[in-house]
Amino acid sequence: MDLFEYQARDMFEKHGVPVLAGEVATTPEEARAAAERIGEKSGGVVVVKAQVKTGGRGKAGGVKLAKSPEEAEENARQILGMDIKGHTVHRVMIAQGAKIAEEYYFSILLDRANRSYLAMCSKEGGVEIEQLAVERPEALAKIEIDPAEGMTDAKAMEIVEAAGFTDSKDELAKTFQTLYGVYTNEDATLVEVNPLVKTEDGEIIALDGKVTLDGNSDFRQEHHAALEDEKSADPLEAKAKAKELNYVKLDGNVGIIGNGAGLVMSTLDVVAYAGEEHTGGRAKPANFLDIGGGASAEVMADGLDVILNDEQVKSVFVNVFGGITACDAVANGIVKALEMLGDDATKPLVVRLDGNNVEEGRKILADANHPLVSIADTMDGGAQKAAELAAKEN
Ligand SMILES: Nc1ncnc2c1ncn2[C@@H]1O[C@H](COP(=O)(O)OP(=O)(O)OP(=O)(O)O)[C@@H](O)[C@H]1O
Ligand SMILES: [Mg+2]
Repeated sequence: MDLFEYQARDMFEKHGVPVLAGEVATTPEEARAAAERIGEKSGGVVVVKAQVKTGGRGKAGGVKLAKSPEEAEENARQILGMDIKGHTVHRVMIAQGAKIAEEYYFSILLDRANRSYLAMCSKEGGVEIEQLAVERPEALAKIEIDPAEGMTDAKAMEIVEAAGFTDSKDELAKTFQTLYGVYTNEDATLVEVNPLVKTEDGEIIALDGKVTLDGNSDFRQEHHAALEDEKSADPLEAKAKAKELNYVKLDGNVGIIGNGAGLVMSTLDVVAYAGEEHTGGRAKPANFLDIGGGASAEVMADGLDVILNDEQVKSVFVNVFGGITACDAVANGIVKALEMLGDDATKPLVVRLDGNNVEEGRKILADANHPLVSIADTMDGGAQKAAELAAKEN
């Protein structure tokens, strides 16, 4: 789960990372009241910042300086409701204004390929860091952190040196360590600060924060549940989540159900390919849905229920490889699921079964002879059929 900047700010504060005062507001009036409180600390100057889970807010006009509570209210009026890269701004953060001398970049992320953590740091922050990484990679220091050792004093100083800092070294090293504390204690997979600034008074402050939390840690991070943004969650994703389904909504018209993340991923590829090849791009995968190993009738019904309620979906491709749960059990699951859904099942289903007890599975589907279901022998064939059915409906 990605956090909003204001949530990251609060989390930083809790762990002792230096931040400036900030308050979230959902109306221009609230923004004005917050600016009255916060401006006191900085000669009346505050920054009104759009709270959306995407980058480049500044460039889009979503970060504006205000010299008075009136101006903050006016800025908030402009920013609230704004669309930034497809994200509607429902909240702004009123942040204390900083007198910035220099802007740096710092991040810690999970490096899956190397089974470790990676810290990245640059003296040239505030700008598009992706661009810097491509154009002048030498300006972005990359230092591996051994998770077993953590961010020792020596490691923090190694990062400071690698980034080429010549002063405020101890303060920077200390800040990296507190940010590492956020990363590990909150079970994050990303903590990014851009910019980390030095103020005119020589203080080091995290002025922006991006945090991604690892959902696998929810069981021991109970307070994370309260950070969820229910307001802008996709309703189908919310429904799938409530049923504990592994579902991601995509943009196409062919609903996908499979068992095992790898099989579902390759099903998406095959359907995307079939859509291009056989329908001139008019059919595309509509979702990712992994019903897992032990796919019961109920899970199948829940999955179909979510997918069939997606208005964009015109056909469904069920691609299951029978393993521990054999094909006959899956086929029974599909038949029962269609019974349970009754009149709610309205879109054609292409089913491809393979693996354990495949013959029995196909026979069960053939015997049920459901008017919406057709059986495919191969994954490619099934993908093509589903793509063609979806394209026909468009
Ligand atoms: N509290 C503040 N006081 C003074 N200037 C600020 C403050 N917050 C941000 N700024 C200035 O605005 C710039 C953009 O702010 P910020 O990094 O928060 O947004 P962004 O980088 O555009 O958004 P994103 O990080 O989502 O891409 C900063 O680089 C900094 O120069
Ligand atoms: Mg930023």
